[in-house]
Amino acid sequence: MRVTVLDHPLVAHKLSVLRDKSTPSPVFRQLVEELVTLLAYEATREVRVEPITIQTPVAETQGVGLSRPRPLVVPILRAGLGMLEGMTRLIPTAEVGFLGMARDDTTLDIITYAERLPEDLTGRQVYVLDPMLATGGTLREAIKFLYRRGAEQITCVCLLAAPEGIAKLEEELGDAEVNLVLAAIDERLDENAYIVPGLGDAGDRLYGVV
Ligand code: URA
Repeated sequence: MRVTVLDHPLVAHKLSVLRDKSTPSPVFRQLVEELVTLLAYEATREVRVEPITIQTPVAETQGVGLSRPRPLVVPILRAGLGMLEGMTRLIPTAEVGFLGMARDDTTLDIITYAERLPEDLTGRQVYVLDPMLATGGTLREAIKFLYRRGAEQITCVCLLAAPEGIAKLEEELGDAEVNLVLAAIDERLDENAYIVPGLGDAGDRLYGVV
């Protein structure tokens, strides 16, 4: 797994406002979108393109177009949905699929409660959106699910990660071709599996408590 943490003053600034518990939901949502657009720039560094010929008003020249099959963006419900707009702003022709995953509070297993994805992902580049990489359980299951469908290269875009979650993914995914693009790696997880210092519950801060 390749881990990239964006080192940029605007990323650090936007993340600081997100962390602030007094930041209201509408501002939080807007900042998540902006931050994801910055992360998307790095996350799509290896997006496949192919040469095309174009005609400028002055002359014919060579350019590039996005290759087919188109990249697939997969927000993990619920909180990953808040990242979708920021990602598709940069790559508007991407296809979008959805995965709903949650932890069963009794067994602690990750259950997939919703899925809207192409059956066959052979050869696809997939961008998974999940703001908080805490224990790593959800991302691990999402990555395995996408590989089982045939995905070729998976890039996970997260706002924050705990070292414990990164270590778990590294241990369990072995040599799988997974990129992880982050705004920051925080100190640790607390006893409730919240990232410390973190930003709280990303889903609640985006959408309110339901
Ligand atoms: N999910 C969140 O929303 N926040 C955390 O700190 C950990 C997991």
